Order: sequence, then structure tokens, then C-alpha cells
Amino acid sequence: MTPELLGFQITHRAMRADTRRLAELAAQLAEGRQVADPARARAIAEFITTLNQGIHHHHTMEDEVLWPVLERSAGAEVDLRDLSDDHADLDPLLTEINAQAAAFASTGDAAALAKSLTRLADMLDEHIVEEERLLFPIIKKYVSVADWERVETAVRKGGNVKLDLPRIEQYAKPDELARLRKLAGPMLMLMISLFRRGHRRRQRLVFGPLADL
Ligand SMILES: [Fe+2]
Repeated sequence: MTPELLGFQITHRAMRADTRRLAELAAQLAEGRQVADPARARAIAEFITTLNQGIHHHHTMEDEVLWPVLERSAGAEVDLRDLSDDHADLDPLLTEINAQAAAFASTGDAAALAKSLTRLADMLDEHIVEEERLLFPIIKKYVSVADWERVETAVRKGGNVKLDLPRIEQYAKPDELARLRKLAGPMLMLMISLFRRGHRRRQRLVFGPLADL
């Protein structure tokens, strides 16, 4: 048996896609192609902050839990320095974006936010492509299923179920969702269904009533 990387892959996909969607939304708001009343502006700012928390948590768990597992299991086969440097570069940008999101919620000006979110989306695209290319084969080859489950549990523990679970359904392809359902059991879909409606409502407020969910 080898580690199941599907959950990580979907998390990565969701982080990249949501950041890109928010960057595009902020650009449209900055250019006046979309408008946000105070309630929508607050919802956008809140979604950005929550997403950033998730990105920070994911990278912290990689640094603190996955990296030690990789160093122990794969040793010289893996060089994590570039990926760690990326994590260190991402953190101040996340902090900056949180401040810009708060400023947007009170002033309605999305110009700075749009620029930073685009930068974040570009950085995440590059980082995650590289991380999956470099690490996924190594994880499959060297990491035990028990160690991998420990990593996933740590990631889940500090996560935000209200956001993480419905985004699995949002971003997994139908065959992937079927595979996850088989792996995680019926509880997964039950949990997802608990958060589905609230998630969709918040997403429509953020991205508009015709948002693709
Ligand atoms: Fe990473």
C-alpha cells in the first residue's frame, strides 16, 4: 500500500483556484466591472482571510509535520530548501493581503488587493506545481501509509471544516469524489452535506448569484 495523495491534491487545487478567482474578482472590482455593497465587501474580505488562514496552516503543517517525515524517510533523496523558502516568502504576503482585505471592506478600494492576490495566485501556482512534481513521487516511494496518515490528520486537525469539506465537493472531479467516498466512508458525504448550503450561500455572496459552484 502507498500513501493516498488525492486529498492533498484536491486541497492544492482548491487553494490555487480560489486564490485565482479572488484575484480576478478583485481586479474586476478595482476596474468597476463589478460592484460590492458593504455586505458583499465584508463577505469577500472574510473569505480572503479564511482562505489565507488555510494556506498558512497547510504550509505550516508541511514545514512542521511533512518535512520531518520526508527527512526521516527519504533523507538525501529530497531537498526541501526551495520549497521552504517559498513558504517563508508566502507568509508576509498573506499578512499584507489580510490588511488589504480589511481596508477594502471599509473603503471599497480593491486596487492594492487585486495586485497582491494576483501575485499570491502566481506564487501558489508555481510553488504547488513544483511541490507536487518533486515530492509526490518521493512520498509514494518512501513514506509509510501510517506516517502519511499522521500528516493528513495534522492538516485536518487545525483546518476549517466549514470551508475545507464543501470545497472537496466543489473541486474534486466526480471520479475523485467517488474514490474519496470509498476511502473515507459515508461520514464524509454526511459531513459535506452539513456545510454545503452555508458554503454555497457565502460563495454566491462573494462571487455573485451566477457563481459557478
Ligand atoms: Fe507547500
